Amino acid sequence: MGWMTETSLRVILIALAVCCGSASCKGYKFADRGNGSFTVSVGGVKIIDHTNDKPFLYLGRGSTKFLEYRGNFNIKDYTLERIGLKLIKRTSTANGDQLIMVYNYNAENITVNLGSKEGHPLTVDISDLGDQYDRLWVRIAAQPSDAIYGGGEQYSYLNLRGRQYPIWTREQGVGRNKSTLVTFQADVMERSGGDYHTTYFPQPTFYSSQKYYFHHGGSNYAILDFGHQDFHEVFIMGKPGRLYVNTGKTFNDLVTKLTGFLGRMPPLPDWIYDGAIIGIQGGTKKMLEYIDYCDQYDIKLSGVWIQDWAGTIQTGFGKRIFWNWRWNATTYPDLNSTIPTLKERGIRVLGYINPNLNKEGDLFAIGDQKGYFFKNATGQTYLQDFGEFECGTVDLTNPDAYQWYKNEVVKKYSIDLGLGGWMADFGEYLPVDVHAFSGEAATIVHNKYPVLWAKLNREAVEESGNLGEVVFWMRAGYSGTGNYTTLMWAGDQNVDFSYGDGLASTIPASFNMGLSGAGITHFDIGGYTTFAPLMVRTEELLLRSAEAAVFGPVFRSHEGNQPAANKQFYSSPGISMKFSRLTEMFTLLKNYSQHVVNITTETGIPAQRPLFMQYENDVGSQDVAYEYMYGDDVLVAPVISAGKSSWNVHLPKDPDATSKWVHLWSKEEYDGAQDITVEAPIGQPPVFYKSTSKFSKTFEAIGNMPLVVVPTTQPPQTEPNTTPSSTMSVLTSVTLLTISASFLAILSSLV
Ligand SMILES: *[C@@H]1O[C@H](CO)[C@@H](O)[C@H](O)[C@H]1NC(C)=O
Ligand SMILES: *[C@@H]1O[C@H](CO)[C@@H](O)[C@H](O)[C@H]1NC(C)=O
Ligand SMILES: *[C@@H]1O[C@H](CO)[C@@H](O)[C@H](O)[C@H]1NC(C)=O
Ligand SMILES: *[C@@H]1O[C@H](CO)[C@@H](O)[C@H](O)[C@H]1NC(C)=O
Ligand SMILES: *[C@@H]1O[C@H](CO)[C@@H](O)[C@H](O)[C@H]1NC(C)=O
Ligand SMILES: *[C@@H]1O[C@H](CO)[C@@H](O)[C@H](O)[C@H]1NC(C)=O
Ligand SMILES: *[C@@H]1O[C@H](CO)[C@@H](O)[C@H](O)[C@H]1NC(C)=O
Ligand SMILES: *[C@@H]1O[C@H](CO)[C@@H](O)[C@H](O)[C@H]1NC(C)=O
Ligand SMILES: *[C@@H]1O[C@H](CO)[C@@H](O)[C@H](O)[C@H]1NC(C)=O
Repeated sequence: MGWMTETSLRVILIALAVCCGSASCKGYKFADRGNGSFTVSVGGVKIIDHTNDKPFLYLGRGSTKFLEYRGNFNIKDYTLERIGLKLIKRTSTANGDQLIMVYNYNAENITVNLGSKEGHPLTVDISDLGDQYDRLWVRIAAQPSDAIYGGGEQYSYLNLRGRQYPIWTREQGVGRNKSTLVTFQADVMERSGGDYHTTYFPQPTFYSSQKYYFHHGGSNYAILDFGHQDFHEVFIMGKPGRLYVNTGKTFNDLVTKLTGFLGRMPPLPDWIYDGAIIGIQGGTKKMLEYIDYCDQYDIKLSGVWIQDWAGTIQTGFGKRIFWNWRWNATTYPDLNSTIPTLKERGIRVLGYINPNLNKEGDLFAIGDQKGYFFKNATGQTYLQDFGEFECGTVDLTNPDAYQWYKNEVVKKYSIDLGLGGWMADFGEYLPVDVHAFSGEAATIVHNKYPVLWAKLNREAVEESGNLGEVVFWMRAGYSGTGNYTTLMWAGDQNVDFSYGDGLASTIPASFNMGLSGAGITHFDIGGYTTFAPLMVRTEELLLRSAEAAVFGPVFRSHEGNQPAANKQFYSSPGISMKFSRLTEMFTLLKNYSQHVVNITTETGIPAQRPLFMQYENDVGSQDVAYEYMYGDDVLVAPVISAGKSSWNVHLPKDPDATSKWVHLWSKEEYDGAQDITVEAPIGQPPVFYKSTSKFSKTFEAIGNMPLVVVPTTQPPQTEPNTTPSSTMSVLTSVTLLTISASFLAILSSLV
């Protein structure tokens, strides 16, 4: 860059700084139409369209009941009164506009401050609602053609338009589709069937295809309503936080701006790309037997994940994990000396924790004595039932409790033991009748609790110098989760191919969660929720799920909540050989995966992203919910139905006319802008890479790997006694009683 250009650029930058620093520099355009009618636009997009007959703000009062049963919330909202607010006065200053909006004839009013704060061209601050009112509705101008994305981890639909999305972290539900039998049964037996919008990770942030995002800064219960032609409506219970609007040239630009504001995830440890993390359990001896078994089949391992490391207890539902988050030497003798030995072999041992402690454990006793748990109405520790055992939940709004859990529990017992990571489970169960140390209403703490939980885990890892070495993964989340967590996972899918709650649902979930700021995620290979004998994991599901996981950042298996009923990677030599090949594929992708995750950490653009983010001008890409780009160079169209041997794929038009789509397995080259059908036997998922990719050699190496031919004479088995370590309840016979017992077990989360 020449001297002249550099100087003139500097002059321009100084001019901008002066403009935005002090004098007039509103990032939005306010157009007064007279008679109290106005519009507010940002970057040419109309965001607010107000007339006193069709106002952009409504105030109201009513009652909201949160009926909770083991993390499933049935929310009953009743509005008694709803009043449109009229503009009576506007004061315009250099930095914003103050609007006085009235709601009755006694001069009572709401003050709305429009401004450009915290890097956003439009921010909206709304005053207290007054004594009589407890809810607010904000309308954002819409076009009938708007497509809407985000809203946190939304599983059932990629485009949220046409539906309502309550913003309340909770169990995702079993089935999540009211027209399926599984959902019906879960509802009848445990009130836990869920619906299209129930999620562990909701977020009051949405993107419009008009290229803006809207974000609500509070943690109030809210509803995003996209069911109207000419407006989107955001319901907020209680005093709202700041509202933010930002525009961008592209979706990538928008997600970079949002994550620049809310925070971005750090890189994953390098070791995680070196093989599978296998979810197994049953004690040290068994763990070592599984590792030997993997050696025998050349299954590449980066870790063993033992969720029962803290021991087990017996309940009416069968064995459950003892929620007392420290090494249990009875269940896992010599674990402390085994961990470093395995680490030398490149195998990490990973554990499990959550923010609840069983009242029978020694850690509970300490926390209880210090008053570190949420309290009930009589000021005593609030005990919550998690399925025949009761727990206290650490009150993370209490700074002392927070430090205690971080230092004396997580650092001391998980990190110092040498764990390579853990599932940081739960965070979404906080009942609305708890009393928090901070004095905030439980309804305000509820949604932000998962973020506090993520922050605690992150600080434990970072302060002990282990960021980039130790990884924790979470399911619960809210705005800001991406700033703290090291990894997400998609929660508890059913062991089936359903759109509402099966393998398929993890794809839109990763998109919407990525757009909400958490772009590094993965899922339980083979799913989790099992309901024998009606719903069990098949070999096909296990392998289809694993082959999809190859093209993502983390490859982790889970036995499910009824291990014996499910097919496992160790269920037969044939499955093990196929699984082994998939772990080899995953490790061959290491360089590329690191590259992809790096981009996410630097830009916020999710590792797995919808086609339309990369190909905004490709018409056929707009509604594709079940294909994704893994980074810039690889297109993946996982087979998400049973019984298929071929699969239809949309190939977008790449702006680089010289780039072709190379089919990973046949090496055939295709032009973009077409729909094709390819052969897709198990083990060869439909995957395409750009012919111009600098990682072509890596992809070729994978594409050269032949399918496994399982010998008809089986090799001798020296596999571990694979009677599943029955941490989970296992059903053998089906009577009404056992069905309902198993449902209780399923729905009470089961660790
Ligand atoms: C304002 O309202 C008055 C009375 O309703 C109407 O006569 C007038 O045309 C309106 N002006 C504008 C600019 O809409
Ligand atoms: C707004 O309400 C306050 C308090 O109720 C009152 O003092 C003030 O005059 C009102 N402002 C307008 C412009 O009506
Ligand atoms: C993200 O985390 C860092 C480190 O804890 C913190 O300083 C920063 O304020 C957080 N950002 C947001 C938006 O919360
Ligand atoms: C370890 O687990 C066993 C049961 O598996 C339990 O009886 C024991 O109390 C646990 N020990 C500790 C220290 O938590
Ligand atoms: C493992 O823990 C036991 C106590 O349970 C202790 O005696 C032993 O020294 C520890 N070993 C190592 C290698 O830390
Ligand atoms: C509060 O919790 C204690 C146990 O910690 C229980 O004994 C008491 O009944 C509870 N009080 C209320 C009002 O729920
Ligand atoms: C819900 O289930 C019905 C019936 O099986 C199915 O047609 C539909 O696609 C499902 N929808 C979602 C979003 O899961
Ligand atoms: C990964 O990158 C390293 C360093 O650039 C290179 O040596 C290695 O061959 C690459 N591995 C694969 C599988 O491409
Ligand atoms: C990831 O980013 C870091 C820092 O920007 C860089 O040092 C590293 O080489 C990158 N790795 C890959 C695989 O791109």
